[in-house]
Amino acid sequence: HIDAPFELVLFGGLGDLSQRKLLPAMYMLHSDGRLPDTGKIVVITRRSLARPDFLDTVYEALQQHVSGDYLSDENWQSFQRYLLCHTIDLQDEASFKALADELQPECGNRVFYLATGSDLYVDICQGLHRQQLTDTSKVVLEKPIGHDYPSATAINQAVAEYFDESRIYRIDHYLGKETVQNLMVLRFANSLFEHQWNHKYIDHIQITISESLGVEQRAGFYDHVGAMRDMFQNHLLQLLCITAMEPPARLEPDAIRDEKVKVLRALKAITGDSIGQKVVRGQYDAGVSEGQPVARYRHEPGVAANSNTETFVAVKVEIENWRWAGVPFYLRTGKRLAERACEIVVHFKEIPHSIFPLQHKNTMANKLVFRLQPDEGIRLMLCEKRVGPGMNVRPMNLSLNPSDHKKTRVPEAYERLLFDVLVSNATLFLRDDELMEAWRWVDPILTFWNDLEQRPEPYTSGSWGPAAATLLLAKDGRLWDEAE
Ligand code: BG6
Repeated sequence: HIDAPFELVLFGGLGDLSQRKLLPAMYMLHSDGRLPDTGKIVVITRRSLARPDFLDTVYEALQQHVSGDYLSDENWQSFQRYLLCHTIDLQDEASFKALADELQPECGNRVFYLATGSDLYVDICQGLHRQQLTDTSKVVLEKPIGHDYPSATAINQAVAEYFDESRIYRIDHYLGKETVQNLMVLRFANSLFEHQWNHKYIDHIQITISESLGVEQRAGFYDHVGAMRDMFQNHLLQLLCITAMEPPARLEPDAIRDEKVKVLRALKAITGDSIGQKVVRGQYDAGVSEGQPVARYRHEPGVAANSNTETFVAVKVEIENWRWAGVPFYLRTGKRLAERACEIVVHFKEIPHSIFPLQHKNTMANKLVFRLQPDEGIRLMLCEKRVGPGMNVRPMNLSLNPSDHKKTRVPEAYERLLFDVLVSNATLFLRDDELMEAWRWVDPILTFWNDLEQRPEPYTSGSWGPAAATLLLAKDGRLWDEAE
C-alpha cells in the first residue's frame, strides 16, 4: 500500500500505451486498495477535452483492457476522483504553468511518466524544470529511449541535467512480468539450478518473444522503429541479462544492475561480416493469422510502400566470459508469427553416454522452460521410462507452476512497475549505463542495415519467420523449439 498522497502525471496520456496499459494498471492498483485516498492522475493530452468526454475515453479504455470481473461501477466511480485531464502544448510556457498550478507544491511523491516518443523527452523535462517541478520529482522514461547510441546519449545527458539518476526510472515492462522475477528466485534461491548454470552443463539457450499481432494502429511509431529497437534492444536483451548474470550480492537495485551491465559488456560484438552470419531480419508478407487473412507489412495503413523496416529479428548472441564461453544464446522476436508466446528455454547438454535404446535423439537432453506468456509457468523436461516391456525412454514434463498462481490473480507487469515507482523501488528499472551498453551493442547492426537499402527477408504471416532464421540454428546443428 502507498501511504502518502501521490501525483502521477502521464505525458502521452491518451496514447496507445496509456490506454492499453497505464490507466488500466492504475485502475487495478486502486481496485486492489493499494492507492492512498488522496492522489492525482493527471492525463496530459495535446487537444483539450471536456471532462465528460475525457472520462468516457478512459472508461472505454478500461472496458477494453480490464477484465470485466474487476470493472465495477463502484470502483470506477471512486477511481474518477484521481483523474484530471490537462492540455499541454510543448511550445507554450503557459500550459506548463497551468500544470504547475494544478499540482500540490508540497507533494512529496510526484511522478512524471513520459509515454511519448523519446524525441520529446528533453522538451518536456525543460518545460517542467522551468516551473521548478523537477527538483524532487521522479521521472519514468518509456522505451525505446533514443534511436541509436548517440541519440540515447544526448537524451540521457539532457534528462540528467534536471533529474538525479536516483529519480530516473527507465522502464522495461518485461522486467515486471512475474516469471522474470521468478527466474531470479529460481536461480538464486535454489542450489539445484545454479550449479548447472554454465557452459559445462548448458548447450545453448533460446529466448523467443513472438507476437501474432501485426503493426496494428501503431504504424506511425513502428515504421520508424522496427523490431530491433522496439523489442530486441530492450526486452530481449533484458531477458538475456537476467538469465545470464552472476548472482548479485544483494537484492538491491545497484547490485542487480551491476551484474546486468557486466553481461552487456561481455557480449561479443557483432560487426562487419559477422552481421550476415549471426543476424537475420525479416518483414512479414500476407498470410493467415489466427484464422484470418492478413495483409503484408508494406500494405498496412501508415506503412511506407517501400518500407525496409524489420518486423522480425533473430540473433546468435555470444557472451565472452568464463560462465558462458561456447554457449550460444539464440534470440528472436517478430510480429505476425505463428503464435503469441514468450519463452526462455535452457537446453542442457546431452548425457555423455546412453545405456538406453534411443528412439528420438532429442528426447535425451533436459530442457528448462520459463514461459512468460500467454500463460506464465516453468517446466522441466526430463526423461522417464515408457510403461511396459523393454527400457524405452520418453520425455516427460515436470511442471513447476507455482501453486498459488491458480488462486491469485497474476498482476500485469505495469501494475507491479507503477507501484514500484510510486514507492521508489528502482530494482526492476534500468540504469543509464545499462541502456547505453545495450545501444552500443546493437548500433553496428542498425547502421549496417541502414546502409543496405534492401528489403528484409520476407516471411509469411502466421509462420515462424524467414527461412534464414531456421538456417541460423541449423548451421549449428540445432532447431528452434517450435520446430521440434
Ligand atoms: C512493447 C512493444 O514494448 O511490447 C510492442 O512496443 C509489443 O510492439 C509489446 O507489442 C509486447 O508486450 P507484451 O507484454 O504484450 O508481450
